[in-house]
Order: sequence, then structure tokens, then C-alpha cells
Amino acid sequence: MYTNKVLKYFSEPKNYGQIKNPDGLGKVGNPICGDVMWLYFKLGKNKKGEEIIKDIKFETFGCVAAIATSNMIVDLAKGKTIKEALKISKEDIVKALGGLPPIKLHCSVLAVDALTEAIYDYLIHHKKPIPKELEKSHEQIEKEKKIIKQKYKSWITTENKLHKKAKNKPR
Ligand code: FES
Repeated sequence: MYTNKVLKYFSEPKNYGQIKNPDGLGKVGNPICGDVMWLYFKLGKNKKGEEIIKDIKFETFGCVAAIATSNMIVDLAKGKTIKEALKISKEDIVKALGGLPPIKLHCSVLAVDALTEAIYDYLIHHKKPIPKELEKSHEQIEKEKKIIKQKYKSWITTENKLHKKAKNKPR
């Protein structure tokens, strides 16, 4: 069962929405279930003059756990520097939510991947150095995106074929 915190973060997605002209945008999908998440952030400065994630929002098309973890990662990343945000792990999100059912643990990966991709997007577009680990994660996420495209392409093709067949069937 879900914890009360998971249900709260699912039913009150206060960080849900888009940011116009974001500094970073991450678009990811889960190759197992096909759930999709977009994460946007804008940078600003804190009182010490450090560059931090000032505004951050998400849009997720997915299960309860996907939405709750999306909402939580946004909470965890807000106010952090890029370096600090990169350290947020799926374990941190699950812990902050008071746990997830074991079968739903994989859903938290979507949130971490979306943040990773948004940070990658920011660094690449601002010609900033990309840490090796981030480069590796980005390559892995790109591979998964290709799998999703392939999977959905074949699903859509099959769906269309079935639809055509059903349409042509005499009633
Ligand atoms: S079942 Fe797809 S992310 Fe949860």
C-alpha cells in the first residue's frame, strides 16, 4: 500500500505545470510501462550569490508513484545548486515519501532521469562542462528513449492494423 505522504504528493501535485523558456528541460519515459515525464527548471541566485534552481515544475503522465515521485523530486531540487541537485537519488525520493511498494520502486527512476536530462540540457546549451557520470546517464536514457519509440511504433502499427481489420469486418 501507499504511504499517506505518497497519496498526498499524488493528489496535491503543487509543483505540476510548465515553465516558459526554461533554463533546463528534461523529457523522459519509462521503457517498461510507457509513462512519461517532463521536468522544467529556471535558475536564479540565492542570498550567497550562488546559482540555484529557483523554479521547477513537472508534467507527468503516469501512475500514482510516478506522479508522487515527480512531485517530490521537484521539492527536493528546489533551492539546490546544480551540483547538489545531481546528487539526488531515487533512494532519497523514496525515503522522503516514507517508502514505496517494492513493485513501484522502478517508478522513482523516471523522476531522477527527468532531472538528470534537464540538467544535461542546461549544461549542453550553455556550453558548460558535463561531468562524466552525467554523460553516462544521458547516454543510457537516450538508449531507453529509442526503445520506447520502437515499442510504441510497433504498438501503434499493430493498433492501426487491428482497427482497420475491425472496420472492414462485416457486421
Ligand atoms: S508504472 Fe510507470 S512509472 Fe509507475
